[in-house]
Amino acid sequence: RTVYVNGQYLPETEATVSIFDRGFLMADGVYEVTSVLDGKLIDFAGHLRRLQRSLDELEMKNPLSEDEWLAVHRELVARNGVEEGMVYLQVTRGNPGDRDFAWAADVAPTVVLFTQTKPGLADNPQARTGIRVISVPDIRWGRRDIKTVQLLYPSMGKMMAKKAGVDDAWFTEDGFVTEGTSNNVYIIRGNRIVTRPLSSEILHGITRSAVLRFAAEAQYEVEERAFTVEEAQGADEAFLTSASAFVMPVVELDGAAIGTGKPGPVATRLREIYLDEMR
Ligand code: PDD
Repeated sequence: RTVYVNGQYLPETEATVSIFDRGFLMADGVYEVTSVLDGKLIDFAGHLRRLQRSLDELEMKNPLSEDEWLAVHRELVARNGVEEGMVYLQVTRGNPGDRDFAWAADVAPTVVLFTQTKPGLADNPQARTGIRVISVPDIRWGRRDIKTVQLLYPSMGKMMAKKAGVDDAWFTEDGFVTEGTSNNVYIIRGNRIVTRPLSSEILHGITRSAVLRFAAEAQYEVEERAFTVEEAQGADEAFLTSASAFVMPVVELDGAAIGTGKPGPVATRLREIYLDEMR
């Protein structure tokens, strides 16, 4: 696989980053994941907008222009022959040459991109069965709206889910669900889709904003408010969204079946609409 590091396209075995990089020592960096279907980037403009916002919030300069970001993404997709999968991009605060909590503004950021080939992203068998989740306390930091590479607790959440024999974990805080380990979450009651409003407590999902737009166009009611685990367990349906899962039905929460315990009509339809509109 060819990867991109600081202006160069290299075989992955030849790509290197300094051990003093603040991304490595301090998780001081941001990332984006854009999915690829039929060799094409999905909702790329949205991901670039959020990247800019994450960089602004951390007082980092955007190292590339929008056209340059697009060119690097396209080049990697082409070189690696990615038909279905994703492009990962990461910008860290770079290598100051030593370890120091304070950062200097004049250090060049480190830019890394790679692709992942994932056949079955669109025609995902999990979308036909739905996935099962457990709830775990959300003990992440308070700026989850910034897409940082600080992913230790989300990784632990995923491991807790694995150990419990299920697929993923939903985080809860003050009695309410915030989001999934790497996705935004929703419940459905009748014709109404309920999801937590945007704030610093959750990541502002790019898929979320597209799905809510398509849902409104399809005459579903959208209510942005927080919900509890109990309310989700009693809902007609539930689902999650992310750049890699698109719309994924959730059929069990903490051992309780949601609705019929099978993917419901609304989540199934929203997945179809999303894929039709975006690809
Ligand atoms: N995760 N919430 C969290 C905590 C996330 O990490 C993600 C994305 C989302 C969904 O955002 P979007 O729709 O823009 O992908 C919500 C990516 C896919 C990842 O870490 O791989």
